[in-house]
Amino acid sequence: KEVVAVLQESISFPLEIPSIEEVENFIWSSHIRLATVVPEKKGLPATIMVTNPRYQGRVSFLNPGYSLHINNLSWEDSGPYQARVNLRTSQIFTMQHYNLRAYRQLLEPRITVNFEISGEGSCNMSLICSVEKAGLDVTYSWISQEDSNDTGHEGSVLSTSWRPGDNAFSYTCRASNPISNISSHLIPAGPFCADPGYPSEKSSASFCLLAKALLFLLLLVTLVVGLWLIQSQARCKSPRMKKLRRNRMKLRKKGKPGPSLD
Ligand SMILES: *[C@@H]1O[C@H](CO)[C@@H](O)[C@H](O)[C@H]1NC(C)=O
Ligand SMILES: *[C@@H]1O[C@H](CO)[C@@H](O)[C@H](O)[C@H]1NC(C)=O
Ligand SMILES: *[C@@H]1O[C@H](CO)[C@@H](O)[C@H](O)[C@H]1NC(C)=O
Repeated sequence: KEVVAVLQESISFPLEIPSIEEVENFIWSSHIRLATVVPEKKGLPATIMVTNPRYQGRVSFLNPGYSLHINNLSWEDSGPYQARVNLRTSQIFTMQHYNLRAYRQLLEPRITVNFEISGEGSCNMSLICSVEKAGLDVTYSWISQEDSNDTGHEGSVLSTSWRPGDNAFSYTCRASNPISNISSHLIPAGPFCADPGYPSEKSSASFCLLAKALLFLLLLVTLVVGLWLIQSQARCKSPRMKKLRRNRMKLRKKGKPGPSLD
């Protein structure tokens, strides 16, 4: 039986048994013996011996049926498991085999874009999709939004080309594993392939215009402030000059009648 689980979460292995009265013990193993469980009988409580220290404190055996339950799964828990049910009649009731595969919830895919622009303005692109710490059994697919149709492409690398006059498509990568799937954000081909119709360039052009306008405004403001400063300085000087002139006049008036000055 294939058992698929999520890392750091928990998992139970289902186990079918005859009536519990007939069971002598359960022996669980994975590579080596993991635990021995003797079910409760005639008022005696069940005895559980966990023999592999890696599982100590992480396993429990759930009633009814004493199926194995593992908490906080790690990569190392992946692999084969085996349950052996021994009957009191010293017969084996069942040998159950499992294969546990633990997977991580995938993180958002990372996209690498390589592009090459030829003389005629045509453009070859390769888009590479990857997921950090992805683990096993990850599949990638690319979806391109061409017009209104979505076209799929299997694999982590998408090669595409674009020529002037073509519509610029957008691409999304989706990564999946048996327990999760996640899509990247939308990657538009336009900005890489210098599509003149792509709005980001328009917005960058208008940004340039705005910057120029702001610079001009700043110059204008500096000019106005400068002029105002010069003018106010002139106004500050003029009363003093008037006073000086007045003083001189007074001196002259006083001096005129005095004979000593002549
Ligand atoms: C789960 O296991 C990891 C090591 O594999 C440990 O660091 C962490 O503390 C454990 N978490 C819980 C809730 O026991
Ligand atoms: C783009 O790829 C095509 C083949 O798919 C090739 O013929 C062409 O030369 C390439 N152009 C550039 C600019 O690499
Ligand atoms: C992706 O995962 C969601 C749950 O997260 C699930 O409902 C959906 O079916 C999955 N899609 C694919 C294509 O695997």
